[in-house]
Amino acid sequence: MKKPNVYVTRMLPQPAIDLLQEHCDIEINPDDRVLERAELLAKVRGRDAVLCLLTDTIDEEVFAAAGPQCKIFANYAVGFNNIDVAAATRHKIMVSNTPDVLTDATADLAWTLLFATARRVVEADKYLRDGKYKGWGPMLLLGLDITGKTLGVIGTGRIGGNFAAKAKGFKMKILYNDIQPNPAFEAETGGVLVDKETLLKEADFVSVHVPLMPSTHHLISTNEFKLMKKSAVLINTSRGPVVDEKALVKALKSGEIWGAGLDVYENEPAVEPELLECENAVLLPHVASGTIETRTNMGLIAVRNILAAMNGEVPPTVINKEVWG
Ligand code: DGY
Repeated sequence: MKKPNVYVTRMLPQPAIDLLQEHCDIEINPDDRVLERAELLAKVRGRDAVLCLLTDTIDEEVFAAAGPQCKIFANYAVGFNNIDVAAATRHKIMVSNTPDVLTDATADLAWTLLFATARRVVEADKYLRDGKYKGWGPMLLLGLDITGKTLGVIGTGRIGGNFAAKAKGFKMKILYNDIQPNPAFEAETGGVLVDKETLLKEADFVSVHVPLMPSTHHLISTNEFKLMKKSAVLINTSRGPVVDEKALVKALKSGEIWGAGLDVYENEPAVEPELLECENAVLLPHVASGTIETRTNMGLIAVRNILAAMNGEVPPTVINKEVWG
């Protein structure tokens, strides 16, 4: 029997590729770069399934190019703001994502950013490597305490919940803001639901864990920075456009907030040039899920979604299940 024909838009960890190859005829983008639009449109044509990335914009035109035989676009990410799911549904194409397997890694990286920003780890490392360290100093590179402080969590889904649960060892008071109360989050973390304004005013560390959608675009902007403590730190591992990057630069430069730890940017991979000048910002290149184990598991989930779709089964983490069947 003819094997399904699958396109993979960029090389993934080998175990995922091996599993896909066992059951399908596959073609993989041979270059370690994002496909140009024209290449993407050409490469998806006539495929039964496509394994795509958060850096691929998948919209009406792409689904039309893929053709009516195409069953699924499996996104290699938990976030799927790069995919027009309504258009996929119109084309009767399923869309899946990779939840759960990256929750710990992403929450761990939010903590990494929190520690690194509060304790000025990157600045201190550079200081030493630059040969500036001449001996212990009482005022050298002073940072902020973490233990016992107030943690503000905006968005309490899987990652926000996991991040907050990890605060236990630091005896932190937890405030949270979400579109509705989250009793499970409260039970696990002792978190208290407050409005966004209260959270911003009272938290020492504010960490954002919301999906990107029209209502969360620039959720943190000029007014929000004004509300925050001068000693506050902002952490963003969600999506760049959730934070107004120009307003953030102003807040960092004027001392309106103390620091920021970011893994995502408004116009990725571009970064606001002035942000690069801010020593009180720790800037990472969107690596929150970037561990060997997690990226492998993300690949395996994406492949399992494809294999299920090819077998007429419900893909385990399908987003638009109404298309199935
Ligand atoms: C996601 O999965 O949405 C992350 O941003 C990348 O792993």
